[in-house]
Amino acid sequence: MIILKSQTEIESMRRAGKITAAARALAGEMVRPGVTTREIDSAVEQFIRKQGAVPSFLHYNGYPASACVSVNDEVIHGIPGKRVLQEGDIVSIDVGAYIGGVHGDCAATFACGAISREAQDLIDVTRQSFFEGIRYAKEGCRLQDISAAIQAYVESHGCSVVREYVGHGVGAKMHEPPEIPNYGHPGRGPRLLRGMTLAIEPMVNAGKAAIQLLPDGWTVKTADGKWSAHYENTVLITDGEPEILTAPAI
Ligand code: MF3
Ligand code: CO
Repeated sequence: MIILKSQTEIESMRRAGKITAAARALAGEMVRPGVTTREIDSAVEQFIRKQGAVPSFLHYNGYPASACVSVNDEVIHGIPGKRVLQEGDIVSIDVGAYIGGVHGDCAATFACGAISREAQDLIDVTRQSFFEGIRYAKEGCRLQDISAAIQAYVESHGCSVVREYVGHGVGAKMHEPPEIPNYGHPGRGPRLLRGMTLAIEPMVNAGKAAIQLLPDGWTVKTADGKWSAHYENTVLITDGEPEILTAPAI
């Protein structure tokens, strides 16, 4: 069952969303050569706590950090640590904040210094695929209208969408129904209704879609070693334009 949020819950989600978006922005600004992924995670945790919120990911199913930091051929769920970022890397950062009984969830991929044209194209295609998808994130559309739009845009640019991990409803729990695949068929899936809050999150590989889980039990990498990017926002369905609850402040 897909939960429809009350006006009060929506207000809380706006607050959680703002903090989450600010944490993503702060993390993105830290991406430069010489910085460790752990330093980014610490700054994210400190910031979220200073806002009176709690990092959503910390201890979630045993996850050991507040941010996921996934570099180059890492797709998602990279565990922050002593890795030092290098010029030319692309760095996917996923953050979540819990406050007022609800979660915000968002991610983006950032360039570390000067990056290749191919890497920038991958980042741009991934981000734009989210915006292609949310053209259908409104009352009356079907869930897979979003999925199909993301897939079509990504594949028309020679990239592929990851199948094993998907977007999701978000609210009192970080993962609520429905699952939101980044592939599908227009006209299928549940009808979207105002009051649904959805985390829409294309994970896009420059090469093939296949992924591989590392022995740490978390880090997901591309099977072919080509690079991957991620873009996610928490979105409120309305009868008109969707409201991006994790929109960048500026
Ligand atoms: N943003 C991720 C998601 O949408 C967060 C889960 S990572 C975990 O699923 F570390 F918290 F597990
Ligand atoms: Co998510």
